[in-house]
Amino acid sequence: MTIRKVGIIGTGTMGLSMAHVCAEAGREVVAVKATPGSTEKAQQSLDKSLGRIVERGKMEAAEKDAIMERISFSTEETAVGDCDLIIESVIEDIGTKKDLFRRLEEVCRPDALLTTNTSTLSVTAMMAVCKHRGRVAGLHFFNPAPVMGLVEVIHAFETSDATIETLIAFCQEIGKDPVLVQDTTGFIVNRLLTPYMLNAIRMLERGTGTIDSIDNAMKWGAAHPMGPFELADYIGLDVVEAMSTNIYMDVRSEHHAPPHTLTRLVQLGYLGRKTGKGFYDYSQKPPKPNPDLLHPVI
Ligand code: 3HC
Repeated sequence: MTIRKVGIIGTGTMGLSMAHVCAEAGREVVAVKATPGSTEKAQQSLDKSLGRIVERGKMEAAEKDAIMERISFSTEETAVGDCDLIIESVIEDIGTKKDLFRRLEEVCRPDALLTTNTSTLSVTAMMAVCKHRGRVAGLHFFNPAPVMGLVEVIHAFETSDATIETLIAFCQEIGKDPVLVQDTTGFIVNRLLTPYMLNAIRMLERGTGTIDSIDNAMKWGAAHPMGPFELADYIGLDVVEAMSTNIYMDVRSEHHAPPHTLTRLVQLGYLGRKTGKGFYDYSQKPPKPNPDLLHPVI
């Protein structure tokens, strides 16, 4: 099967950037807002993000317009009814995702592929609520999707070979580098990245180093584009905490449980870049380490 039309459910950061990637590769895209309200903000946000790429001289204005034209926005899930591939990117809550998969089976074509962009939840659990399970899989893009090459293609318990072959071919056609992964919590990247960020937080708590020194050490010594605290703030501390909790619930080892400092920041609503404060304070240019974390908290 050739994927010509892609339906994306959820118009957050990942939903919009996957819409961008698919439309840039010439696919028709329907982006459905999953929560109540108009699609205007999502449309403006994508337009602004593409506009920044044009301003940097990395994209022609005509290409930006063509991308926007290939994406239609809707508030109705039924709008994905004629899509070849659906990628859900709604809130990381297994109940919400299962309910969505149940509804998608009712509105989608019988041969449409149903996929999730979950970071750590079980694809098999979503598959379990479906009648036609062979077409269910994971398609995990990375943030920022237009820049990051990898897409993890997740083989859940009863995913068919044909589904996997189609998804791998699709990723290659849209210029991405697919890696096949079996359905386990965190797949490959998040299963390795999450403990890495948690260890950095524990180092900070022990006073091994500062936010700056730990970040710089990993940038200068391991050639990472961002240090662990910059990365955690970039991903979103609520997401990092949820990934940690999901991995902890799976492996039941204290080592994977969310550290005190992470939980406290999330409780305070300091979720990283998106809220203006996390391990760094983004009201300053360049961002400065959060002054409340200058001294170890434990
Ligand atoms: N959309 C489109 N293009 C973008 C972009 C975006 N949101 N953000 C950056 N870019 C482009 C820029 O246009 C620029 O392109 P150019 O090289 O052609 O000019 C290029 O990316 C580099 O951008 P900048 O110069 O502004 O910034 P940096 O050089 O600092 O790079 C970064 C920014 C690409 C985000 C880099 O710091 C990086 O790779 N960080 C690590 C990101 C990472 O690890 N992501 C994975 C997170 S885990 C995840 O997503 C899984 C999930 O389940 C939690």
